[in-house]
Amino acid sequence: MMTKLFTPAKIGTCEIPNRLIVPAMVMNLCTEDGMITERYIRYIEEKAKGGWGMIITEDYAVNENAKGYKYIPGLYNDEQIAGNKQLTETVHKYASKLFCQMYHPGRQSKHDVNGNVQPVAPSAIKDPFCMDLPREITVEEIHQIVKDFGSTARRAKESGFDGIEIHAAHGYLISEFLSPFTNKRVDEYGGCFENRTRILDEIYAEIRRNVGKDFPVQVRISANEYLLGGRTEADTYELVRHLDELGVDAIHISNGMYASPVLRQIIAPMYTEHAFNMDTAQQVKKLVSCPVIVTNRINDPKMADTILEMGKADFIGMGRGSLADPHLPNKAKEGKFENIRYCIGCLQGCEAGLLAGTCATCLVNPRVAREYENPMEKTAAPKKVLVAGGGPAGLIAAETAALLGHKVTVYEASSHLGGQFRSAAYPPGKGELSTFTSSLRKSLADLQVPVKLNCPVTEELIAAEKPDAVILATGAKPLMPPIRGIDSANVVTAEDVLLGKVDVKPGPVVVCGGGEVGGETAHFLTQSCQDITVLEMRDEILMDMFPLMRMQLMQYIRECGIKVRTKATVTSIDENGVSFKNPDGSVETLPAATVVSAFGYKAYNPLEEIARKHCENVQVIGCAVKAGNALTAIREGYEAALAL
Ligand SMILES: Cc1cc2nc3c(=O)[nH]c(=O)nc-3n(C[C@H](O)[C@H](O)[C@H](O)COP(=O)(O)O)c2cc1C
Ligand code: SF4
Repeated sequence: MMTKLFTPAKIGTCEIPNRLIVPAMVMNLCTEDGMITERYIRYIEEKAKGGWGMIITEDYAVNENAKGYKYIPGLYNDEQIAGNKQLTETVHKYASKLFCQMYHPGRQSKHDVNGNVQPVAPSAIKDPFCMDLPREITVEEIHQIVKDFGSTARRAKESGFDGIEIHAAHGYLISEFLSPFTNKRVDEYGGCFENRTRILDEIYAEIRRNVGKDFPVQVRISANEYLLGGRTEADTYELVRHLDELGVDAIHISNGMYASPVLRQIIAPMYTEHAFNMDTAQQVKKLVSCPVIVTNRINDPKMADTILEMGKADFIGMGRGSLADPHLPNKAKEGKFENIRYCIGCLQGCEAGLLAGTCATCLVNPRVAREYENPMEKTAAPKKVLVAGGGPAGLIAAETAALLGHKVTVYEASSHLGGQFRSAAYPPGKGELSTFTSSLRKSLADLQVPVKLNCPVTEELIAAEKPDAVILATGAKPLMPPIRGIDSANVVTAEDVLLGKVDVKPGPVVVCGGGEVGGETAHFLTQSCQDITVLEMRDEILMDMFPLMRMQLMQYIRECGIKVRTKATVTSIDENGVSFKNPDGSVETLPAATVVSAFGYKAYNPLEEIARKHCENVQVIGCAVKAGNALTAIREGYEAALAL
């Protein structure tokens, strides 16, 4: 039973219909000159349809050189108002409220995304991710930026937004001033608390001057930067009392800056515990009279309701939760928890997309940010579709095709759905991957898509079924290179180890292959084995991982005492161990009671020729084409259904 989540509450004068908030998320969907697009509007509209109480827009640039990403919106000139009016009118067709976040990125920006100008910051200290040396901002420039916030706020009000969020978190300009980690000034904007807070006070006052006292204005802060000499919780408690005295309408508790440790990143990965900001939010609540929002790694509506019930916050921010499933609130309200597509904290679609300079997307929801191009209208010409393979790509293809009105059947040769996603959920910290497959299973059941397990697709089956279209998502098989002794009795595949199909014998374990699968399997094995070595022929291990996740798994590998040998080419295996060649040609042998084969995967596509004999519309997708990452496979599954 949920008690609080769907009760209304106020932020200033604005009544929010429920407690679920979409916090700001840059999607890179606008134009280079800060104009919003139809695509951006449709992306936000989908969330309004989905029942979120409040949506906070991504960070709007307050002037033309206040961009941390190339395709973010701005409200720094009056021409930008019309598009935003269209946005607010669209959202207001639904019950959701819409707040506009505004910011200046400070040192967390680069020349190439920001009109080719040098970033500015309180002090000239480089951010370790952006690596673009900022220039120390002058007092005159500070005064101008304060004015820019004010005029941006005026335009936001004129555009019809319900309120404003000042972005004073995450290591951007305002938080750089707040933090002794980035602010080394000795003028009136640096040094003691009063001085470091001055820019925020001035911005708040200027915004109020522009929007009046009744227009909701909230402030987002990083409660803790988790850095030597950065802002701490004690600083935050001091700051929130000050903000409450100023009269802000709500305080939004987040954490971190780009330089923070992986587990305390602004966008925390799946290895981070859920809702880790909730206790700080609770302390903040004791100190202030205004409502408190808490965000980061809260992806489950029942967890959100419990946090509210415990009095830890008044509103819950779910950023990635809304990318993974824009309709999460409506599903939760209807009690359809099994149908929610939960964010799994992988960062592969959202953060990785941004860092690549493209738009953000989501691994478990390939439609996000493509709502405009893919309205998902039912087809006028339904096809009979046969999907071979019940891994992520096949299941997404089946779900999308069924949603479009096609008549779909899924055939899976094994006894389980999920393909490689199943074993990928077994290493420590990765259990949430299972939610993806289970929600797809539920969705297909609701869509009345037959899913036939233990049912390999054969030529006879295709000939008998006579489908109009075939989607081959047969996945990949473990790569077993032709190494002498690869068929020895002590050799097992990583997948079989993870799935518990083989019992790893007592004694030393050698994992051959230091990619993500090898590294995670070694990590998994530390629960029951002491002596584990990973052999990798390249210079480094885990090179197929997203860098932030890689950093964290590297740390676990070090902490768990897993031995790593790189530039090591396996030459032979026998019952006693594994031999490998070093770059200087020397050969070493490591004893191994168990040898785990994690050499990678190879595409498995045994049905294409057969299928083409019986059907003109055949698509091969995912790892059946090229063994690769899940993001690509899932996107291909989605696109195959659209292309039917
Ligand atoms: C793609 C992406 C873009 C983001 N952009 C912003 C932003 O513009 N402003 C902001 O305050 N936070 C931004 N964030 C951080 C989120 O608002 C949120 O604090 C973070 O994702 C953790 O919450 P979650 O676990 O609910 O996703 C972004 C997060 C993501 C995933
Ligand atoms: S890409 Fe991964 S982390 Fe990002 S929203 Fe989707 S599931 Fe969550």
